[in-house]
Amino acid sequence: GLPFLVKIPALVASFVFLFCLEACLWVRNFRLKRRLPGPFAWPVVGNAMQLGQMPHITFAKLAKKYGNVYQIRLGCSDIVVLNGDRAIREALILHSTEFAGRPNFVSFQAVSGGKSMTFTNYSKQWKMHRKIAQSTIRAFSSANSQTKKAFEQQVVAEATELVEIFLKLSAQGQYFNPAHELTVAAANVICALCFGKRYGHDDVEFRALLQKLDKFGETIGAGSLVDVMPWLQSFPNPVRSMFNNFKDLNQEFFGFVHNKVEEHRDTFDPEVTRDMSDAIIGVIDKVDSDNGLTKGHTEGTVSDLIGAGLDTVSTAIHWILLLLAKHPEIQTKLHELLDKVVGRNRLPSVDDRSSLAYLDAFIYETMRFTSFVPITIPHSTTSDVTIEGLHIPKDTVVFINQWSVNHEPPEGSLDKDLTNNVMIFSAGKRRCIGNQIAKVEIFLFFAILLHQCSFEKSAHEDLSLNCTYGLTLKPLNYKITATLRGELLKAVWSQQSSNLPRLIYLPMC
Ligand code: HEM
Repeated sequence: GLPFLVKIPALVASFVFLFCLEACLWVRNFRLKRRLPGPFAWPVVGNAMQLGQMPHITFAKLAKKYGNVYQIRLGCSDIVVLNGDRAIREALILHSTEFAGRPNFVSFQAVSGGKSMTFTNYSKQWKMHRKIAQSTIRAFSSANSQTKKAFEQQVVAEATELVEIFLKLSAQGQYFNPAHELTVAAANVICALCFGKRYGHDDVEFRALLQKLDKFGETIGAGSLVDVMPWLQSFPNPVRSMFNNFKDLNQEFFGFVHNKVEEHRDTFDPEVTRDMSDAIIGVIDKVDSDNGLTKGHTEGTVSDLIGAGLDTVSTAIHWILLLLAKHPEIQTKLHELLDKVVGRNRLPSVDDRSSLAYLDAFIYETMRFTSFVPITIPHSTTSDVTIEGLHIPKDTVVFINQWSVNHEPPEGSLDKDLTNNVMIFSAGKRRCIGNQIAKVEIFLFFAILLHQCSFEKSAHEDLSLNCTYGLTLKPLNYKITATLRGELLKAVWSQQSSNLPRLIYLPMC
């Protein structure tokens, strides 16, 4: 009997320990659990196994059962999911500050050496950082007619080069996968803005870097497991391998940006702002201020702009080409409109946009239908807040299901203008700062590709609308062929940096 008696204190201690642990967890979750509806969460994994291949669709289904604001649990994180136009606008617009945070996920800390604006929590310093990024974009794309023209010329030149490449890849009726050339083209637009330099489509190193960056959104998208189950990093498993790749690609990308920014620092002239890197160096490196931003934030900002402007724009055009090839009758209508408005002797330009409303409608419908950024980058609450009568405590992770907004049955009359209601750039304090340049860029690429080419799918292939999940939804690989419509029109490259506007940069204007 003695050995058993000896074990009793140990057993009691274990019970007490487990009881305390459970009590702590219960107290921690009490405030959330009591107030928010949501599905039953299993121990350890929570609802992770229920997300499925397309979490945004699962979230929309759960909203039918639990309402537009509900709670799930992923690993050790309680997460609030917001669905539908009304709840999302109430949160992001009426309570913009409360929903402006970002969670302190491990994956977020791996981006840009922790100096990113996009992946940093809400603070006074973050506000300054965002303002700098925002006014830099404006200064180089829409500040005045000269910057506007320079930006447009850049996109036009990139688009006409893309036309030539597509035609080469279609020689003798061959079919090709446009994905990678689209990424290079979108990367070139943003690299020209940031570094005053573009890269050839056959630049092997650049292509390799972009190929790796393609995987970025897999780890950063809502529902990524490494952030909510940190213990997955402690033993070999597929999530850990993916996360290690993610860290490597971020390091490599940050190194690439760092080298370019260093070159700019070496040749910096305060009188001449050559490109966005110079502009950002001018405000972050060179201005002594107490906002806490350091040199590393210069690289952080440049990486943010390149990263954000790359995957999104190329994914948009990737979907557009797929839908064009899938719907030849719409393509014919678009061709006829372009020929009527623009004619065959010149390329379409931004000035034609108001006469080409059907093109914009096609772009918006592609954005609405695919909702290719289905859930925004995860948010977190900066203080306690109440949405649709439901209380959400400070520091709660929030997923914002944009897809659900775009797939709600429209209210009221169907002929009201729906284009403004497409939600893909988010809203509130974290809304995309690149939406204006993205729209111009997508419009020009689309209009020029379509003016110059017809796109066709192979008769043997039925183009699938299925996609891969991540921060962006990408179409599955598909092949098309391009045929020249009439005469090939070329744009001449503007003389890059010497033609860029000489701006004296005023960051806060
Ligand atoms: C079609 C193209 C694009 C789409 C659909 C898109 C969409 C988005 C979305 C959904 C977010 C997250 C908002 C949130 O977390 O609530 C975002 C953030 C952001 N976007 Fe875009 N974007 C596009 C193009 C661009 C471009 C071209 C740039 C810059 C050159 C850019 C720069 C940014 C930045 C810096 C952020 C982070 C904002 C922050 O955290 O405060 N985006 N974008």
